[in-house]
This record gives sequence, C-alpha cells and structure tokens, in this order.
Amino acid sequence: EMAAATPNSHRAQDRTRPASPALRYGFENAPDSDPAMIANQAWAEVIREHIATSQLGEGTRAANTVATSEELDARIQAALDSGWGAWSADERADALHAVGDELERRRAELIEVAAAECGKTLDQADVEVSEAVDFAHYYAERARELERIDGARFSPAKLIAVTPPWNFPLAIPAGSTLAALAAGAPAILKPASAASRCGALLAEAIWQAVPREAMQYVQFAERELGSKLIADEAVERVILTGGYETAEAFRSIRPEVELLAETSGKNAIIITPSADYDLAVRDVIASAFGHAGQKCSAASLVILVGQAGASKRLRDQLVDGVRSLRVGPPSDALAKMGPIIAPASGKLLRGLSVLGEGENWVLEPRPLDKAGILWSPGLRAGVRRGSEYHLTEYFGPILGVMRVDTLDEAIEAVNEVDYGLTSGLHSRDAEEIARWLERVQAGNLYVNRGITGAIVQRQPFGGWKKSVVGATVKAGGPNYLFGLGNWDAAEAVD
Ligand code: ALA
Repeated sequence: EMAAATPNSHRAQDRTRPASPALRYGFENAPDSDPAMIANQAWAEVIREHIATSQLGEGTRAANTVATSEELDARIQAALDSGWGAWSADERADALHAVGDELERRRAELIEVAAAECGKTLDQADVEVSEAVDFAHYYAERARELERIDGARFSPAKLIAVTPPWNFPLAIPAGSTLAALAAGAPAILKPASAASRCGALLAEAIWQAVPREAMQYVQFAERELGSKLIADEAVERVILTGGYETAEAFRSIRPEVELLAETSGKNAIIITPSADYDLAVRDVIASAFGHAGQKCSAASLVILVGQAGASKRLRDQLVDGVRSLRVGPPSDALAKMGPIIAPASGKLLRGLSVLGEGENWVLEPRPLDKAGILWSPGLRAGVRRGSEYHLTEYFGPILGVMRVDTLDEAIEAVNEVDYGLTSGLHSRDAEEIARWLERVQAGNLYVNRGITGAIVQRQPFGGWKKSVVGATVKAGGPNYLFGLGNWDAAEAVD
C-alpha cells in the first residue's frame, strides 16, 4: 500500500521553482542529481523491503490477546501475585537500567516497526527510541529516591493500568510502564490497537529484565474488556495518554478512578518582531508538521505580532519553508513528513478542507495517494480569534496563521483555548519573554525552541487546563513516581 504512494507528487509541481531560501532551514528541495540523495534512495529501498516483511512482535501480540473476562481476571491476579512489590528499589533500578540497555540494543527493530505500523518517519522514530531509553534510566534513579524521603513512607499502587496512544508508540508506553515498575507497582500495558506491534516489541524488551507476571502485555478481543480493566478495583491508578474524551469516558466507567491523564492540546507559537525569523520558521515548521502534526504537543497555530508589513517577510519565509517539506512514506528516508494514521475523516477532514470566515489557503492541503493517508502540508491564513480553527485540535498536517497587533493580544488568544499543553514564544526581548512567561497558560513553555519533543528530565512534560485530567505530575520529571502510590507518615524509628 505504502509503496504505491507517490511521495514526490506535490514536490514535482515545484520542480521549476528556483532554489528557495528554505534550503537554509535544511529542508530538501529534492535535487535529483545530488549524489547524497541517490545513496539515500538505495538505503530507502532496503528499509522499504524490511517494512514490507516485518512481523516483529506479531507472535507476542497474538499470544497475548485476551478474549474473555476470565482471562482478564487471571492476568490481573497474576500481576497482583507477581511479587514485584518485594523487589527493593535498587533491584528495580538495576532492572530498569537493563531495560534501557536492551531498548538501545533493539533500536533498529524498534524504528522499523514504528515506521511500518504507525507511519513514523525514520528520524522521528529514532528520537522516540532515545526518549524510551531516557525514561528507563531516569525512572531507575527516581526509584531509589523513593526510599530516601524522610518523614513519609511511600506505598506503590497495587496495580497500574497503562493505556498509551498510537502517535508515540514507543516512548509513551515505555515511559508510563517503566514509571509504574519503578514505583514498585506491577503494570498492565494495553497499547493502542493501531500500535500493538510496537507495544509487543516493547514488552519483549522489558521482559528481558522484568518478570512477565509483573508487566502484563494485553490486547483485547472485545472493547468491553478495556472497560472491565478500568473498572477493576485492583487497578489503583490508570496512566492514560489520549484525547480528553477518552479521559472523560474512563471517568464515566468508574467515577473514582485515579487518573494520570495527559490529553489534548491546541498549541500556538507566538512570533514577535524582535524574533530571529530564520530560527522561528524552522521551529514552527518542525513543531507543526513533524509526524504530520499528529502530536498532542504540535503547533497548530502561529500568531504573528506586529504590523502587516513587518510580518510579510516572515510570512514569505514560512510559506517557502512549508512548501519545501518533502512528504513521503516512512520507507522514503528523506521524507520530512510521513502519512497520517488513517484516511482523513471527521474533524481532521474538516480541518483539511473547510475554511472559516476571513480565512484563505496559502497552501491548500492535498491528498497525494489513493489511500488518503499522505497529504501535502496545509497552511491557512486569516485565522480569527474565537473561530473554530482557533479553538479546535485537529491532529494533522495543518498550520493556521493569526495576526495580532500586540503581544498582550497574542497571549490572550493563546489563553482563550480550553487546553493548555505546550506553548511557544520566539522573541529576543527580555521584557516580552518575562511578560509571556508570567501570563501564558500552558504546562510546557518553550522560548526560542520548537514546542514538541520534550526531553526527559530537562523538560518534564504535562499539561494545564483541559490538557490534564487527574494528577498534575509531569512525565519525565522528579515527582512523577510520587503520583503512582500513596503516602503515609513514617513510623517513628528509635
Ligand atoms: N512528549 C511529547 C512531546 O513533547 C508529546 O512532543
């Protein structure tokens, strides 16, 4: 299916254009005669072959599909009986470090499966493996700290259910599962069905150092079994990454469920006239179109501050940069943007095709293959405050441009959105930066940097407002494990 795609068709229309300044941002202009490109195409063939034949994780996935309510009960009981809670913090830390090393050893397989199953471009899949490895080593060390806190004693949750999304099929399930294990709780990992091979491969890596009973990997034959898992009293925490509606659904299944849920986002980057435009455009494009915009952290709106004339140069640079993005299937090693997970429908299709009042397409998104999964990147201008585009998460390859007169107005526009996950500012004015940091409402704030790809430990990740449901601890941060159990005053020690 993917081989039948025509990755270069939207590029082909541009062949006659002169070399663009976008080259400065490192986006290829598909120069056919470039020898480096020819070498990469040969490599792409090899990867394409691998992707076509990949069955990795298939056996584990099939063997771990739970079909009946009794089977699920047995899995829950096996996790509770696993004895994981008896492992000391040092033993758990050693096991997690070993998992990190195993993930590193399996980097190539993990990249291949994430590309094949979830349409990740190879560079994005590679970064995800790094993040998974980072989570393993980071949470290993945080596990040791749990035993050293004076005046309080931590007891891990009896059992933690982990329900990750398909868009980060490696880093998020790895991080969530390993956090549970680090805290001393057995885990049941139920990957998104669109990412179950990645989940199976990850489980195989974790089982090299952690007993199978303590880390259950399951797929459900019936949806109801998922609800049954959430409803089970033994499950004392649920780590969810997914849409806001999913968090609501979990709460309707079990109102008292203790969630650590990172949900939706509608994230903007503000660019002021003091910004370094070259840097700003590069960061906006990477944040908007990396993984075809299918990140809760993605930039879906860019807010240009200042006079229309002053922002014209910036607009031209932005358009040039977006046009130069190479779109292709993951087997195209040079692709900067890959496919969306499924043919566009519903809200996303609306975002790709319907304009609001005052809006126009600067670059209209177009389907590039028969399956409807490869799209050229879309750029819409004229987005107004309070419009549908301004307030809606689309989760796809579209970027909107809004123009405002002042930074204060831009901040108000950001804060009008119900969600508050990531937010960006490009400015070289210290006063502007301080004002923005003080007032903007989002969990992760980035100055003069892209707004995706939070780095474990350096940028603990988590939202504000409707981007978080339940505990507000941040993944990859110092207090994440604290949310995975209960605290009692320590007994007095003589
Ligand atoms: N943690 C992911 C990012 O920062 C979602 O992009």
